[in-house]
Amino acid sequence: MDVLPDKTLKQIQKLSREGDALAETQEFPDALKKYWAAWDLLPEPQIEHEAATWLLTAIGDSNFRSGEIVEARDHLSNAMHCPGAIGNPFIHLRLGQCQLDLGDEKRAVDELTRAYMAEGEKIFEGENPKYLTFLKTKIDQPSAVTKAAQAPAAKAVTKAGGMNLIANIFQTTLGRKYIMGATGFALVGFIIGHLVGNLQFFLGPEWINSYGEFLKSWPKALWGARISLLACIALHIWAAFALAAENRKARPVGYVNKRATAASYASQTMIMSGLIVFAFIVYHLWHFTFMFKWVNAAGIDFHMLVDDRGRHDIYRMLIIGFQQPIVSIWYVVAISLLCWHLSHGLSAMFQSLGLKTPAWSGLLDNLAKYGACSIAVGYISIPVSVLTGLKTFIEKGAL
Ligand code: HEM
Repeated sequence: MDVLPDKTLKQIQKLSREGDALAETQEFPDALKKYWAAWDLLPEPQIEHEAATWLLTAIGDSNFRSGEIVEARDHLSNAMHCPGAIGNPFIHLRLGQCQLDLGDEKRAVDELTRAYMAEGEKIFEGENPKYLTFLKTKIDQPSAVTKAAQAPAAKAVTKAGGMNLIANIFQTTLGRKYIMGATGFALVGFIIGHLVGNLQFFLGPEWINSYGEFLKSWPKALWGARISLLACIALHIWAAFALAAENRKARPVGYVNKRATAASYASQTMIMSGLIVFAFIVYHLWHFTFMFKWVNAAGIDFHMLVDDRGRHDIYRMLIIGFQQPIVSIWYVVAISLLCWHLSHGLSAMFQSLGLKTPAWSGLLDNLAKYGACSIAVGYISIPVSVLTGLKTFIEKGAL
């Protein structure tokens, strides 16, 4: 793909903005003139430029909104051949709406499902409810949704003769979403397992100290799990940045983009909360795994804490660690962000894994929300119980 000269790109963007402003006030014929003027500035072959994606989308959208459905379908279908269009939920939505209005139900299901898979029900907000109602009546089997969503990746794999499966997973949007979903799933598994282990704190020193000892008695398994965990974290972060960069590039400009702005807000806050949680994990490893004295705010070397059976005294380490208000507050803040991240992430994961059909969507969203909150409450209960003095209660054997 040739890079457009700066001057041409600026002219195209200016004309597009003018077109957007006209489309916003429903002056579609004038808006179309601006978009076509911008199109004429694109060097041939136009469809190789990213600008072609959003111009054809804007043109198709104006056609659709002014009732020129055949033209809208044709322009949006052409947009699909331009860079970054496949997987763009807005283009799939509009194209699906055109197909349905033109009576092609099969294609309508295919396109609307892709829009739905990427953004869920919120992409249908502000649209005529008939499109979502239609989709709901057509799709209630997870397998049908999954099949439609997997089609581009499947095609890509077939094209490459099946040899480049791994490359396809890393290079296609859908593949990256699977990486996000699968690594997210593994990380949630760890987070739940780790929580169950940590909650033994409330059962007293014997439990949590022997649990720590037990884990260390399987060094190969422990290191295998640690390396897998590290790989999952690295892949998860890589996929998050790759998808965010792709979203920014493939997204049409102007009012066509309004819906996408909300989505990108969510994904930016996901990146922000994810990075803070990552910073927390680094701190947490220094704190309790490497036990660096200078990060615990207590000035005590946690390596020295040994119980009367000669084991590392994790129980006392947690009590001393969380008696430091600044440390506990940081844990509570970071875990609250983890909760936010998880509730959105789990919901997105169900979507990427093809489980979020219209029938299951509400249930899975609730599962994500309440699941994430329960995890956070479980973790937060440890520093809070230490800070509020509940631990004295425990030490006296009252629990
Ligand atoms: C109050 C909350 C938490 C407590 C009390 C806690 C406790 C601990 C302890 C004691 C260890 C050291 C285990 C050892 O090496 O013997 C540890 C390691 C670890 N924790 Fe936590 N943790 C908490 C929250 C979290 C959260 C929210 C995450 C992830 C988001 C997390 C991720 C990890 C990881 C990745 C390790 C390293 C595991 C390893 O090296 O085997 N922890 N945690």
